[in-house]
Amino acid sequence: MKNNNAILITGGAGYIGSHTVVELFKAGYYPIIVDDFRNSNKSVIEGLTELMGESPIFYVIDVCDKTALEKLFLHYSFKGIIHFAAYKAVGESVADPLMYYRNNILGLVNVCELALKYNVNNFVFSSSCTVYGEPKELKEVSENTPKSEPNSPYGNTKLIGEQLLLDVQKSNKAFKVINLRYFNPVGAHPSSLIGEFPIGKPNNLLPFVTQTAIGKQESLLVFGNDYPTNDGTCIRDYIHVCDLAMAHVKAMMFLENKTEECIEAVNIGTGTGTSILEVINLFEKVSGVKLNWKFADRRKGDVIEIYANAKKANDLLNWKANYSIEDAILHAWNWEKKLVEHV
Ligand code: NAD
Ligand code: WQD
Repeated sequence: MKNNNAILITGGAGYIGSHTVVELFKAGYYPIIVDDFRNSNKSVIEGLTELMGESPIFYVIDVCDKTALEKLFLHYSFKGIIHFAAYKAVGESVADPLMYYRNNILGLVNVCELALKYNVNNFVFSSSCTVYGEPKELKEVSENTPKSEPNSPYGNTKLIGEQLLLDVQKSNKAFKVINLRYFNPVGAHPSSLIGEFPIGKPNNLLPFVTQTAIGKQESLLVFGNDYPTNDGTCIRDYIHVCDLAMAHVKAMMFLENKTEECIEAVNIGTGTGTSILEVINLFEKVSGVKLNWKFADRRKGDVIEIYANAKKANDLLNWKANYSIEDAILHAWNWEKKLVEHV
């Protein structure tokens, strides 16, 4: 089909992908979702339909199945690709690294091979601040900060993914790439029509906070209280998922307009670090709910403190975060309450 604005969104039914589909659609793009719902909930389609005013176009395909994926490239002439589809649980990747290498690397190889074969030259990749590992001196990392070893096989798949794209770009100068290095995505759409659906016990902090407050979890364990930070707990850069979604729109626009070769890594964060205790205090303030939490041992492999220098995102993509962390926490809490109403 010849829609000149079609963008392939692998993993578009997932947490970040679904929010990005909405922002792309609002910006006039025509998102085509590929997802086999292995880590997402089919009800996301209802939320997307309500937000877009029409059903999103989606195909239930495993990106590791190249034959099935190729049919889409024959059907649509894509203007660009945003590749979200991947596994993302750090602990699971330590237990089963090959499952992570298979899905995250094979999926990327397939999508890249098809992109080259069908001349789809604008490519945005979901990378992660995990590629920086533990920052050595400055906790504010820029794209030029030397990378340490990622702390997991999952992190390695992101580092390898970036390297793979660099090599592909070197041999195909028409292929333009932006690796977006997300910091810690949190929150949900302000409408509460879409959000995150953690499957099983959440690994990430904010879903654990909201699930504890609603009574799905008994108590939040705060991993470590003796780190060399202001209050002894770890510090992260929490970025609202809608701001993050907008970064993909800006990245796609940038690539479309770029006439020279392009391979760029860009941090997507707020530029501010927040400790776990600060998150808990803000949650209690925003929600009016007292949280049941206690200190526990440090979690193995945790980075102590990291936050983004987001200047390049602003300079290159004309992007910056607009939502505050209070907004993100409020939207995450509203979403949690909505999930309870609907079960
Ligand atoms: P998610 O699990 O909610 O979304 C990923 C989507 O991809 C899911 O809907 C899943 O069903 C789909 N998927 C996975 N493998 C697939 C396959 N082989 N074929 C088809 N669909 C497949 O995760 P998310 O939080 O939205 O993350 C999206 C991307 O961003 C991932 O690449 C992740 O590694 C990266 N990332 C996430 C975070 C985070 O904290 N959420 C941070 C940095 C980077
Ligand atoms: C944040 C802080 C925990 C849960 C992970 C991945 C990273 C990236 C984002 C994809 C840490 C603490 C957490 C809990 C806690 N993902 N915590 N109790 O570790 O920064 O990053 O997600 O690329 O690769 O590693 O995020 O939300 O898991 O943890 O005390 O129940 O909250 O120890 O200090 P993290 P997180």
